[in-house]
Parts: sequence; structure tokens; C-alpha cells
Amino acid sequence: MKHLLKLMDLSKEEICSILNMADQLKYEKKHGIEHKRLAGKTLGMIFQKSSTRTRVSFEVGMYDLGGSALFLSAHDLQIGRGEPIEDTARVLSRYLDGIMIRTYSQEEVEKLAEYGSIPVINGLTDYCHPCQVLADLMTIREYKGAIRGNKLTYIGDGNNMANSLIVGGIKLGMKVSVACPEGYRPDAEIMKWAAENGEFQCTENILEAAADADVLYTDVWASMGQEAEAAERQKVFAEYQINDRVMACAKRDAIVQHCLPAHRGEEISAEVFEAHAAEIFDEAENRLHVQKAVLVKCLTS
Ligand code: CP
Ligand code: NVA
Repeated sequence: MKHLLKLMDLSKEEICSILNMADQLKYEKKHGIEHKRLAGKTLGMIFQKSSTRTRVSFEVGMYDLGGSALFLSAHDLQIGRGEPIEDTARVLSRYLDGIMIRTYSQEEVEKLAEYGSIPVINGLTDYCHPCQVLADLMTIREYKGAIRGNKLTYIGDGNNMANSLIVGGIKLGMKVSVACPEGYRPDAEIMKWAAENGEFQCTENILEAAADADVLYTDVWASMGQEAEAAERQKVFAEYQINDRVMACAKRDAIVQHCLPAHRGEEISAEVFEAHAAEIFDEAENRLHVQKAVLVKCLTS
């Protein structure tokens, strides 16, 4: 695997292979087994947006694998002063073994891969968040024993998380149901693809979406970069919350997932969040194991 730009680029087999390696790396870490598969390699991490999980898990992941990681804030790089991504790609390719980038435009990530000569990993764009969904799939498999056949319900904004969850869920044989208000639906092409390639539903009825769900998922109403729309979004999404009423529609053993950060009392009630904290923080932990698997796959291919 050369890059991880979006899940749509990966086959089901490639996704499963990443999850299997993540399980192996998690086992090795828990048992104190050294796994310096990337000794001597350096990852550059470009951030145009804030991050806790992505930054720390990639950085610790590189150290665990015997390599090193550089945090590159876009505010300090010349990108922030207008240096083209095409030039940045060609320069960084002379110093580094791989780049992880978190930015706004998906096109920028694709250009970085096109002009550079080293692997590029997407650490979130406005369009998608593939690393997060790989960790989510890993967590679902841990809790449910399998992924195929389980129903995944996403409630909230049809954002980067929704787009990647639909692609990842459908590719691995889940039934995917999303509840989003009109005007805030996931990417139209992704929804069309999902309907043609699996069991997919998009509705405005959150209870209908949650019916018999095995996994309930939500994300913030206003993503990074949408701060100016926050007040308007509070009104639009007021009903789009995972709470006890929604949980009552799901299967009794349903798990709850949230990519974090979470806004209690908005997209998820404080009660549901705390009742399902074990699953949510396992999911956050799995970012580390999955990221390491992605790094090994990309940087050693
Ligand atoms: N879930 C996630 O990507 O978290 P960060 O924004 O903290 O990286
Ligand atoms: N949709 C959120 C995800 C954060 C991990 C955002 O883009 O801010």
C-alpha cells in the first residue's frame, strides 16, 4: 500500500489486512514485545487543524516502531505563507520517509501524494477521516467478534466521519443507516455508491435509523473550520442526539462509538457517554494500534 488518502482507494482485503496487523501490534505492545519495524524512518506530521488523538498516536506510534516523528505546524511551515503544496511535497520527499497530513481540502492531500515521492497518510480532511474509521472497525470487531452483518447507525452531521464510516462499513459488509437533516447529508457520490454496493439507508428519522442497531455512532455538530456556523447548527441538529430514547431502539447489546472530542448534551447525552465510556476509550486507544499498522504498510511497501 503506497498511500492512505481515503478508504475508497482500499480493497476489503487491504482493510482487513490493516486490521489484522493492528491486532498483532496491539498484542505485542500489551505483552512488551519489541516491534521496531520502522527503525531509522522519519515521519513528518503536517497539521493545519488541532489534534489530540491523531497527533499523539502517530507520534507515539513512530517511536514504538523504532522511528521518529516531526510535528510540523502549518502555521510555522512556509505553506502558511503560500508556498505551493507541489513544492512542499517535493522538498519534504528529500528529507522524510512518509508524511501524515491533517488539513481542510482533500485535493491538497491528493496533490501532496501526486507531487511527492513518499507515502502520504490522510489524518483528516473536510471530506474524510480514514484513520479514525479503521480504528472504529477494529473496535467493532473486538466487541462484536465480526464486522460483517452488523448494523451501524450514524446520527448527526453528514461530515468527514459520516463519509468514511459509510465507505468503511459498506466495504466490510455492514448495514449502514445514517440520520442527517436535509442540507447536511453525507457526500452524494458516496451515498450513491453505498446504495449500489450494500445495504444503505439515509433518513431524517433518528429512531428509524437506530432500529436494531449493533453500533451507534455520532460526531460533533460543528466540525473544525465550521465554528462560525455553530449557533445555526445548534438549532438544525437539536434533535440529532444519541440518548436513552435512541438507545432503546437499538439492540440491547449495542455499543456506542464517538471519534472524540465529544460535546455532552449536544450530539450525545452525558448519561449515554458515561455508560459507554469503555467502548469509546477503547476506540480512542485503537487509533494508536491502527495507525502503527498503516505506518508499517505504507512505509515498508
Ligand atoms: N478523533 C480524532 O481525530 O481526534 P483528534 O482531533 O484529537 O486528532
Ligand atoms: N468532524 C470532526 C471530527 C474530529 C475528529 C471535525 O472534523 O472536526
